[in-house]
Amino acid sequence: MSKTIIAPSVLSADFSRLGEEIEAVVAAGADWIHLDVMDGHYVPNITFGPPIIKAVRNRTDKIFDCHLMIEPCDPFLAAFAEAGCDIITVHAEATKHLDRSLQAIRDLGKKAGVSLNPSTPESIIEYVLDRLDLILLMTVNPGFGGQKFIPAVVDKVARIKSMIGDRPIDIEIDGGVTPDTAPLVAAAGANVLVAGSAVFKGGTQGAYQANIEAIRAASDGAMR
Ligand code: DX5
Ligand code: ZN
Repeated sequence: MSKTIIAPSVLSADFSRLGEEIEAVVAAGADWIHLDVMDGHYVPNITFGPPIIKAVRNRTDKIFDCHLMIEPCDPFLAAFAEAGCDIITVHAEATKHLDRSLQAIRDLGKKAGVSLNPSTPESIIEYVLDRLDLILLMTVNPGFGGQKFIPAVVDKVARIKSMIGDRPIDIEIDGGVTPDTAPLVAAAGANVLVAGSAVFKGGTQGAYQANIEAIRAASDGAMR
């Protein structure tokens, strides 16, 4: 049994066949489906929202891991919950009242995540740890797939791992994850890896399977 949770980001999928791409990546071994929601305001790119997520929700029972890169986020949390997201992650930098946003997600019956950009210090989450199910650490600046991993974040992973102690909080890494970078963050304490371009390269279910297996093997071998 693998210790690493692999969450392919559909940002790198063929959007014209999104439902089929989700089925293919699940058949290839994906644990969760990572959904990157961008608003063209908080980040310099626009992707999709609740109607698209709802349309593909019936393609799998896997966890829908929704990464909101939108500002404000609070007015839209209910719509993402209703669309079928299981985990809803907001950016600490994109909400004025982080504690309130996290509480609102849990009140909707969903798991609550917070994301930190590479330059955001971990002290911002010190007082909300008991409201958190997941911490998503960006290892690129959010907005686009296919960027280069920022190694300075590896130390932050280790500091957050010791900060959370024995709380049942997942540490998720997003951006530039490959079989080369996965061991660095796994060794520092991460247990969930998002990968877009490194999973969807090749364009076939067989390629997705080989890509997922390579990341999984590299991470499992380094996990602490
Ligand atoms: C970036 C997104 C990521 C992105 C990762 O803002 O949050 O999920 O899709 O893409 P790769 O794995 O290609 O860096
Ligand atoms: Zn993401």
